[in-house]
Amino acid sequence: MSHPLPEDVDPTGQDLRAFTDVLRPQHVAVRNVRGEYVFLRHADVRAIALDDATFSSAVSAHLQIPNGLDGAEHTAYRKALDAFLTPAALEPYHAAFERIAAALASELPAHVAIDAVTDIGAVFAVRAQSAWLGWPTALEAPLVAWVARNHEATRSGNRTDMVAVADEFDTLINGLLDARRGPNGAVIGDDVTAELMRTEVDGRPLREEEIVSVLRNWTGGDLGSIALCVGVLLYHLAQDAPLAARLREGVPDAEWDAVINEILRIDDPFVSNRRITTCPVSVGGVALPEGARVKLNWTSANRDEAVFGDPDAFEPEGNAQHNLVYGIGRHACPGELLATLELRIALRAILAATTSITLGEETSMREVSPVGGWSDVQVILA
Ligand code: HEM
Repeated sequence: MSHPLPEDVDPTGQDLRAFTDVLRPQHVAVRNVRGEYVFLRHADVRAIALDDATFSSAVSAHLQIPNGLDGAEHTAYRKALDAFLTPAALEPYHAAFERIAAALASELPAHVAIDAVTDIGAVFAVRAQSAWLGWPTALEAPLVAWVARNHEATRSGNRTDMVAVADEFDTLINGLLDARRGPNGAVIGDDVTAELMRTEVDGRPLREEEIVSVLRNWTGGDLGSIALCVGVLLYHLAQDAPLAARLREGVPDAEWDAVINEILRIDDPFVSNRRITTCPVSVGGVALPEGARVKLNWTSANRDEAVFGDPDAFEPEGNAQHNLVYGIGRHACPGELLATLELRIALRAILAATTSITLGEETSMREVSPVGGWSDVQVILA
C-alpha cells in the first residue's frame, strides 16, 4: 500500500533535526521542493543504504570518487583507497594529532566566549588534515577561510557560489599536486598526497581528475564535518558536567569513542546522502518509480523513536548497534576511524587543558538546511 506523501516540503532555513522530529512520527518520507523523496525512518534509511543495486549512488554529473560509483567499479576504488584509512596506516599520525590538539588547547583564550565550531573545530580539522596529507602549514589560513566559505555556499544553496568554492578548492589541490611532480613527471615525496598520486586501481594509476576528486571527498568529509562534530560534542559536554568530569579523569579509547558516537547520534551534523533508483521499488509502503531521486536522512533515522525510544536519551552502549552516523552498507564512511581518532584526540586535549567548559551567555546558533548541528557554539573554557 502506498501512503500519501507530503509534497513540496521546503526545508530552507529550517533546523533539520527539529524539522524532521516533527515529520518522522507522521510520515515515512516526504517529497521536497526538488522532487526528492526524503526517507526519515531508521528501517527505511537502513534498507535503502543496504540495497545498493536498486539505489544507485550515481547521482551527480560530476566525478565523485568513490561516492558516485556503484558495484564492482566502486569496490575496486574502495579497495585501493581504504588502505589509507586503516588503523595501521593512521598509526603514524597519532602523535602529530596529539601535538596539534595540545598546542591548540593551550592557545585558546580562557574565561571568554569562543566559538567551538570555528575557533576550535575548523582550526583543529585543518591542522590535523594537513598533517595527515602532508600539506604545508602555510595553507592553514587559506583552508580555514575556505571551510567557512564552503559552508556558507552549501548553506545558501546558491549554485554559482558552490561552483566557485569548488573551483577554488581544485586550484588549491592542483598546486599541491604540481609541487609533488618532478621535472620528468614522476611523483616525488612520500606523504599521503604523494602516495595517493602513485595509487593504482585495476592496474592503472589514478587520473589527475580522480586524485582531485578523492582529495575533495576526503577533505570535504573531514574539514567541515569535523568542525561541526566538535561543535556538537562541546555543546553536549558543556551541558553535561558529570560526563565531562568522568572523561577528564580518563577513560579507555573504546569508551571515549562510544561516547562520541552516541553524542553524534543524538545530533548528527552530517545530515543526508543521495541515491537514484535503478528500477521501480517500494520502501516502507512508498512506491518509487525508476529514476526517483532519494535522500537518506541519517539525522532523522538516528533519532527514530521506534529504535531509540527517547531520541535524546544518552545510552552509548544500548544504542551503538543501531547508530547510523557513519552510514551503513557499501558506501559506509571509510573515514570513520580517522574522524573518531581526531575527535577523541581533540576533546581529550581540551578537557586536559581545562577544569570547566560552560556555555557563553550569547545563545549558540543552530545550523540550518542542508547542514546539521550548530553553526556557532559559544563556549567558555576555564
Ligand atoms: C567527521 C565525521 C564524518 C561523518 C559523520 C561522516 C559520515 C559519512 C557517511 C554517513 C557516509 C555514507 C555516505 C553514503 O552512504 O552515501 C560517508 C561516506 C564517506 N566518507 Fe565520511 N564522514 C565523516 C568523516 C570522514 C572523513 C574524515 C573522511 C576521509 C578522510 C571521510 C570520507 C568519506 C568518503 C570518501 C565517503 C564515501 C564512501 C563511499 O561512497 O564509498 N568521511 N561519510
